[in-house]
Amino acid sequence: MRIIAVLNQKGGVGKTSTAVNLGGALARQDRRVLLLDLDPQAHLTYSLGIMAHELPRTMGAALMRECPLDAVTMEVGPLKVVPASVALAGTEVDLASATDRETRLRDALSRARDYDFAIIDCPPNLGMLTLNAMVAAGELLVPVQPEFLALQSLGKLMETVKAIREGWNPDLALSGILMTRYQRTRKLNREIRRKIKDYFGDALLETTIRDNISLAEAPSFGKDIFTYKPRSHGAADYRNLALELLRRGAP
Ligand SMILES: Nc1ncnc2c1ncn2[C@@H]1O[C@H](COP(=O)(O)OP(=O)(O)OP(=O)(O)O)[C@@H](O)[C@H]1O
Ligand SMILES: [Mg+2]
Repeated sequence: MRIIAVLNQKGGVGKTSTAVNLGGALARQDRRVLLLDLDPQAHLTYSLGIMAHELPRTMGAALMRECPLDAVTMEVGPLKVVPASVALAGTEVDLASATDRETRLRDALSRARDYDFAIIDCPPNLGMLTLNAMVAAGELLVPVQPEFLALQSLGKLMETVKAIREGWNPDLALSGILMTRYQRTRKLNREIRRKIKDYFGDALLETTIRDNISLAEAPSFGKDIFTYKPRSHGAADYRNLALELLRRGAP
């Protein structure tokens, strides 16, 4: 099983869109996909039309070892999903004083055997939940928007990844940096892409996700892009991302 954490401490860069639609794309390549919502904003959960506030138990219960991951896993079309709710913010506080607090997600996932991919949607910070994702994951997928400040947050993220490799998870790999909301006609977008390419080389994925209104609309319908607008640029780009990650294999 490839465990991919979709991570960037910068907010609004396309983490949730990437987790949902990469998951959707892989499922349509007949891969068994588990999506995990590790963000108290619960955007992934709501993006898939799951009413988290009506559920008795979600991600937080599994992290607090009140139940196994299976007990909070739902079926949504071709995907399996572990939803989150705002209660996850409280869980993060409770975890701070718990034993094995950094390895809760890794332990929970170690018993999940029926999947080819587990994709974790992280919150926009480097707190305890994100730490759990970095300890559990084999790979990081880092969406970035083509703006100047993206470079600065990438630098900070790479420092954190280095610390995690030296401590909790020596095998943590960077499966890729993904440009999102990319507009090729904009000079700044092309320049930022070139800078990232110069610095990160092959870690910059060939696939870029274009700015696409259908991707922004899909969450309000509770659907991934393949159900909402299968012929959109967004669907084509996320399909290409899935194919590129399959072609490259686990890093
Ligand atoms: N390629 C795209 N084209 C157009 N809009 C996009 C694209 N990708 C994401 N969006 C929109 O941009 C906003 C931020 O995206 P998203 O929620 O995926 O980012 P995020 O990194 O998960 O945010 P947060 O840090 O708050 O968790 C959302 O409204 C989303 O619908
Ligand atoms: Mg998000």
